[in-house]
Amino acid sequence: MKIAIVGLGYVGLPLAIQFAHANVEVLGLDIDSGKVNSINKGRSYIKHIASETIEEVVSKERFSASTDFSRISEVEAIIICVPTPLNKNREPDISFVLDTGQAIAPYLSPGALVVLESTTYPGTTDQDLRLVLEAGSGKKAGVDFHLAFSPEREDPANEQSKVKLIPKVVGGFTPACLDRAIALYGKTIDKVVPVSSCRVAEATKLLENIFRSVNIALVNELKLVYGAMGIDIWEVIEAAKTKPFGFMPFYPGPGLGGHCIPIDPFYLTWKAREYGQHTRFIELAGEINTRMPEHVVRVVADALNTQCKAIKGCRILIVGLAYKPNVDDERESPSYALMQLLAERGADVAYYDPYVPVIKPTREHPQFAGRKSVEWNRATIAAFDLALIATNHSSVNYHELGDWARCIVDTRNAMAGVQTEPGKIWKA
Ligand SMILES: NC(=O)c1ccc[n+]([C@@H]2O[C@H](COP(=O)([O-])OP(=O)(O)OC[C@H]3O[C@@H](n4cnc5c(N)ncnc54)[C@H](O)[C@@H]3O)[C@@H](O)[C@H]2O)c1
Repeated sequence: MKIAIVGLGYVGLPLAIQFAHANVEVLGLDIDSGKVNSINKGRSYIKHIASETIEEVVSKERFSASTDFSRISEVEAIIICVPTPLNKNREPDISFVLDTGQAIAPYLSPGALVVLESTTYPGTTDQDLRLVLEAGSGKKAGVDFHLAFSPEREDPANEQSKVKLIPKVVGGFTPACLDRAIALYGKTIDKVVPVSSCRVAEATKLLENIFRSVNIALVNELKLVYGAMGIDIWEVIEAAKTKPFGFMPFYPGPGLGGHCIPIDPFYLTWKAREYGQHTRFIELAGEINTRMPEHVVRVVADALNTQCKAIKGCRILIVGLAYKPNVDDERESPSYALMQLLAERGADVAYYDPYVPVIKPTREHPQFAGRKSVEWNRATIAAFDLALIATNHSSVNYHELGDWARCIVDTRNAMAGVQTEPGKIWKA
């Protein structure tokens, strides 16, 4: 069997490798020729995916990449894993999905299966994408080609989270579409979970991400409430999670980051308006989570104040730029919000992140493009007035940080178990 995977990022690349391991021939398509060239040379561009893993499937001719979308005519199934961000008005931007639909439509072979994996609002697959595919191909979904939605459940850098072992929810446009999608994923995923429609599958992914967003907001709020009472939220969570039923731990932090949790819930908020529905939990969670960087900056100000210093003119080091531990992905990272807020208050801000040696240009934070991570050594770290831990990469030596830094604000409980002189570490 030969399939195409469109969009070779954090989701598409591991999925392509997974299918290639199951003896499916995979054609990877992307508009980024840099990624395409890297794959064909057996080189990885994602930290937690080894080049050898790509090289192995490329050399066995099970995986190759291209920018030529006319090659869609060679495949039986197409899986779409392109970005679904928010636009500058914080509304869904499904243009990448629709562009992909337009690019592949003219080349769909008879009976081909198209599966969307990008997170999105209910109705994207059976309405927006379907119309683009039908218009561009002159074919009818459910008759001349098959259509389905199956949400990605990738957890980057989690060793326990293997694509093959994560159950795959699938919804089809028709029962025949569903059968085709079940057969496709059944080739390489241990458990496929069929649902009654594309919309149910789309809504399932949103529930999963909204669940996280709301629970993170809850512990972020409790961090402030318990903090005012002199109670450490981290100790409370450790104790609560010994309950063997009815509790699941979520952890506070400096704000939400990444491609999913800060964005996906607002896909539903937007769509709900069309039905006259309000998404109050989502809005409230968003409000609490987006205020977290301001809380952290207040703690930074308090910590400096005890040393008779102001934020203005101080040198502050952000430790961890990626949005979560042990990944090189810094999209939507709260570290940027912290850098911005501190810089606005006159601080001289730098960062240390072993996985982000230099900041790439982004639409959201063009002012930080080109900045480089500082070196990790005593002289460099000790030269900062304060180190602010925003992400707790496990490769960072927190004992050295405790020894070298003059003052530490810790948003991740990374300094738990590290002995320093009293008053040096502030939890935020
Ligand atoms: N990263 C995660 O952990 C994760 C987890 C679950 C779901 N998702 C969802 O999966 C989708 C993809 O996310 P990602 O993190 O892999 O994004 P990504 O930015 O890492 O990768 C997307 C890829 O698509 C390519 N692309 C963009 N437009 C294209 C087009 N028109 N044709 C072909 N290729 C195109 C880009 O060049 C890029 O290589 C999103 O909807 C996201 O919400 C991501």
